[in-house]
Amino acid sequence: MSEDKAVTSEDKGVDVPAQRSAGDAASREVLLKVTGLQKHFPIKKGMLQRNAGAVKAVDGIDFEVRSGETLGVVGESGCGKSTMGRLITRLLEPTAGKIEFEGRDITHLGVGAMRPMRRDMQMIFQDPYSSLNPRHTIGTIVGAPFKLQGVTPDGGVRKEVQRLLEVVGLNPEHYNRYPHEFSGGQRQRIGIARALALNPKMVVADEPVSALDVSIQAQVVNLLDDLQSELGLTYVIIAHDLSVVRHVSDRIAVMYLGKIVELADRESLYRAPMHPYTKALLSAVPIPDPKRRSVKSERILLKGDVPSPISPPSGCRFHTRCWKATEVCKTQEPPLAALKTGHQVACHHPENAPDQVPGETVTAAAREAIQIVDVSKPEADDPEAGETAADGGAASPDTPEDSTKE
Ligand SMILES: Nc1ncnc2c1ncn2[C@@H]1O[C@H](COP(=O)(O)OP(=O)(O)O)[C@@H](O)[C@H]1O
Ligand code: SF4
Ligand SMILES: [Mg+2]
Repeated sequence: MSEDKAVTSEDKGVDVPAQRSAGDAASREVLLKVTGLQKHFPIKKGMLQRNAGAVKAVDGIDFEVRSGETLGVVGESGCGKSTMGRLITRLLEPTAGKIEFEGRDITHLGVGAMRPMRRDMQMIFQDPYSSLNPRHTIGTIVGAPFKLQGVTPDGGVRKEVQRLLEVVGLNPEHYNRYPHEFSGGQRQRIGIARALALNPKMVVADEPVSALDVSIQAQVVNLLDDLQSELGLTYVIIAHDLSVVRHVSDRIAVMYLGKIVELADRESLYRAPMHPYTKALLSAVPIPDPKRRSVKSERILLKGDVPSPISPPSGCRFHTRCWKATEVCKTQEPPLAALKTGHQVACHHPENAPDQVPGETVTAAAREAIQIVDVSKPEADDPEAGETAADGGAASPDTPEDSTKE
């Protein structure tokens, strides 16, 4: 293990760091580049296992992750986030597209060729209960990557594992304990220690706090954040809502049905979301500033579930749930395009940006697509609270009143 990786427990703060500068991120080198990435899971039917279509879990996405930044990836359940995470860490074989890591094409590297690369890219999983082997001590679990890679750290495995436990805020003397002796938050820390063992460059965290108590979530997110500044890590953090990634992301990608529908600097996305889907997700994020709580709060309730990725809707995939949908949305897929520096969106009729196909009329179905709920009052008064993923918090002042008044 190199010296520069050493972190002392005193170094670890718990505060959410000051706002990041998106400008910084833009000047950093590209660590990961993804082009046209696809994963279609074939559906086999009958005795002969005939091909009967495919689940288009990830269906052509492009993005970059720069060294030292955090890319947040959000979207409702089933939008392809985990599949994307497993593709970029090469736990899954892509159907099409290209993945480059440090300029090297790793799209179809075999297990042997990937082994040395595995040191550089690690994954943290959602469920700290099932991702740790209950029969192994945490010493064995956190030390496993050294064994797998045939690496002996300076001072031996035990000493290094104990150092890692300290780095993630656990007692190094608990080396011989078993996973069941730890709380959920502590288990996720064990998972983080294991992911950090080989000093990776990139860590993909798939809903790292979704399974944890809300009171513990911030601690684990803060730990990830502290470790990033201390170790120079690059993160892809997946979450199903925008509240978790809010403080730690430099940029955010919003996924819907296997596509990236919006990709923007954090500031720009929160201040002026362009995609209607992002706007609905944002309306579910509580306003953190108590002074603004008195402002009229509305949430956008999307009706219905995410359609099946086996046969996604034509044109814009969001048109079946969008309150701004017009005829063109049903037939033409909007390209992901930069409508502002550092802000890409795939929408014909974006919010907070010029209409890309003006003169179209909102369809009758679109007028029924959402429900606006006033949440200025306490949640208990609202029987509809929690109905869909896009529930909670406040919408910005330009909530689509025109399509909901009638
Ligand atoms: N191994 C698999 N085989 C078939 N379908 C899969 C597989 N993994 C995921 N899917 C499907 O792909 C879609 C996207 O899943 P996933 O990537 O887990 O989404 P998310 O993480 O956003 O919830 C879902 O419809 C899911 O059922
Ligand atoms: S306005 Fe049209 S293109 Fe934009 S999200 Fe809605 S349906 Fe899609
Ligand atoms: Mg997932």
